[in-house]
Amino acid sequence: MTIPVFPETSVALKGKKGLVVGIANDQSIAWGCAKAFRALGAEVAVTYLNEKARKHVEPLAVALEAPIFMPLDVMVEGETEKVFERIGKEWGHLDFLLHSIAFSPKGALHGRVVDVDREGFQKTMDVSCWSFMRMAHLAEPLMKNGGTMFTMTYYGSQIVVKNYNVMGVAKAALEAAVRYIAAELGPKGIRVHAISPGPLATRAASGIPEFDELMDKAQSQAPARSLVSIDDVGRATAFLALDGAKLITGSVMYIDGGYHIID
Ligand SMILES: NC(=O)c1ccc[n+]([C@@H]2O[C@H](COP(=O)([O-])OP(=O)(O)OC[C@H]3O[C@@H](n4cnc5c(N)ncnc54)[C@H](O)[C@@H]3O)[C@@H](O)[C@H]2O)c1
Repeated sequence: MTIPVFPETSVALKGKKGLVVGIANDQSIAWGCAKAFRALGAEVAVTYLNEKARKHVEPLAVALEAPIFMPLDVMVEGETEKVFERIGKEWGHLDFLLHSIAFSPKGALHGRVVDVDREGFQKTMDVSCWSFMRMAHLAEPLMKNGGTMFTMTYYGSQIVVKNYNVMGVAKAALEAAVRYIAAELGPKGIRVHAISPGPLATRAASGIPEFDELMDKAQSQAPARSLVSIDDVGRATAFLALDGAKLITGSVMYIDGGYHIID
């Protein structure tokens, strides 16, 4: 009897090509994921929001040896398309996509959901939900050999989390989009996941009032009694890009030390 040979851990994504959207700095969840993809041998293309953000992201893209490094503000008409056009031209295909962006104007995020105006709602949904749907649409024809799509969500989509407000509404829509797109693209061998990390002290999180309280609660009540790091999120996310995870799709994957099972 022969024991099956699994691929060497360090080269398990060797030859795979992925796009990582959402690195702002070395605390970004997208950076934790990009490091893990790279450590497993994948090549990653990296985007940055705008010129102001570029100087923070460029050294990280250099460390990742990213062959493609481009601006991408999903609110700028045509920029998303340009990124996928370049990937199509230079790589000809794509194996994975990581969407790790969200935004809500202060006026919308810091108020009650019942008071959110149309403009605040539309901007929140545009950046935090529709941009993923659009990227999935553009990635589909490039995922010729199948692939994996990821987006970042949060538990405030499922239950009311104090101060998460309209972002909870956007994340609920995002998780529903993941399920529909997973069903639509599954026959092509494309898997789609929402990754739901526990609270992490990132730039985006600093926009949520009393975020420290969320962190304290997670640390003291999560079954693992531990906060998660961007590397924890990165490693678990990269696992889902492996062939060994090829029949896992459409899920909301909690990487939160088990916090979501506690009342
Ligand atoms: N930090 C947490 O506790 C936590 C928990 C669960 C989920 N998330 C989610 O993880 C994702 C990444 O956030 P993070 O915590 O790493 O913070 P972050 O601030 O490092 O990343 C947010 C990213 O969104 C990008 N972005 C905002 N508007 C954009 C636009 N118009 N076009 C393109 N990019 C834009 C920013 O440039 C930045 O890179 C978000 O979806 C967030 O909701 C965060």
